[in-house]
Amino acid sequence: MELKVLDLFCGMGGFSLGFAMEGFIVIGVDKSRNVAKTYLYNLKKYNEKNEFIKKDLNKEIIKTDAPIIIGSPPCKPWSPLNTRRKGASHQDYICINAYFNHILANKPLIFIFENVPQIENDPILKKNLQKISQDYDYVIRNIRYSDYGAPTKRKRLFIFAFRKDLGLNLQEFLKELDEIGQKMPKKLVKDVIGHLVDVPEGKIKDHEWHKINFEKYGEKIKKKLYGCERIKWDDFFPSKGNLQKVLTLHPLLDRSLSIKENLLLMGFPNSYEFPEGLSKWGRYQMIADAVSPTFSNVIAKALKKVLK
Ligand SMILES: C[S@@+](CC[C@H](N)C(=O)[O-])C[C@H]1O[C@@H](n2cnc3c(N)ncnc32)[C@H](O)[C@@H]1O
Repeated sequence: MELKVLDLFCGMGGFSLGFAMEGFIVIGVDKSRNVAKTYLYNLKKYNEKNEFIKKDLNKEIIKTDAPIIIGSPPCKPWSPLNTRRKGASHQDYICINAYFNHILANKPLIFIFENVPQIENDPILKKNLQKISQDYDYVIRNIRYSDYGAPTKRKRLFIFAFRKDLGLNLQEFLKELDEIGQKMPKKLVKDVIGHLVDVPEGKIKDHEWHKINFEKYGEKIKKKLYGCERIKWDDFFPSKGNLQKVLTLHPLLDRSLSIKENLLLMGFPNSYEFPEGLSKWGRYQMIADAVSPTFSNVIAKALKKVLK
C-alpha cells in the first residue's frame, strides 16, 4: 500500500519512520536545516519517493493530496522542563494553530497529533478541536510507549482522528492498536544497550557521549537530585528529556548515555544514523524531541489493518 503521509514539524523523523517501515510514502516538513539532512539521510533508505520540505509552517500552509496527516508541534510551551515563558507567552504556542490550519485546509481522511500530556486542558487545543469536530471523530489518548514495545516509558498525548465520511470505526482502530501493542516483545534497558557496554567511544557511529564533570556533579548524583539520575538496567528507560537539562547516567558505567544508546532507548532501529557534521547537543536534542518510532510503527500497522 503506497499511501502518502504528510508529517508536520517532522524533526528527525521518529513519527514518519514507523510509517515508512510499513511502506507508506512520507513527506516531512520542518523549518530546520539540520533535521532536513537527518530526515532525508534516513527516510530515503526506505523509499526514494520519501521527501522533505523546508518551510516555516507558521508562515505558509502546505497543500497536499496526502490522505493522512501526522505531526508533533513543538511542546516547549507545556514541557515541565521549561520553567520560563510557559503557555501562550512562548513563541511556539501558535504552532498548534498552524497544525490545525493544515487540517482545515486539506481535510485529510485521517490525522494524528502528538504532544506532551500537559497540553490537554490548554484552551488553544480545545478551540482547535472544536473547529474540526464537525468533520472528524476523534479520541485523545495518553500513551506510554513501553506498553507498545518501546524500551522507554515516556508518556505522550496522541489525538487520533478519522473524517466522518470515511466510514471507519475509530474504536476498531484503537482495538487493533492495543492488540498489536500487546503482542510486541517487552524490551528493557539491558536488552537494547547491553551489547554496547564494552564498546569504546567512537568505535561505532553515534556512540559518543557528553563528558560529565564528576567533581561538580558527583555529590548530586549520589543524592539522586533532580536532573542527575542513573537509569536502571532492569527497567524501562525513563526518558526525561535532553541530556543538557537532565543528566542521565549509564546504568553500569560512570558516564552519560551515548547518542547511539539514546537512539536505541527511544526505540529507533539499529540502522538509524545521523549524517556527518551535526553537533552532539543537536543530536541529543532531536532524539529528545522525537516520537518513538516503535510506537508510530504500531500506529501504521493498525491503520493498515483497518484501511484494508
Ligand atoms: C517536537 S519536534 C518534532 C519531532 C518529530 N515528530 C519526530 O518524531 O522526530 C518539533 C519540530 O518542530 C520544528 N519547528 C518548530 N517551529 C517550526 C515552524 N514554525 N515551522 C516548521 N517547523 C518548526 C522544530 O525544528 C522541531 O524539529
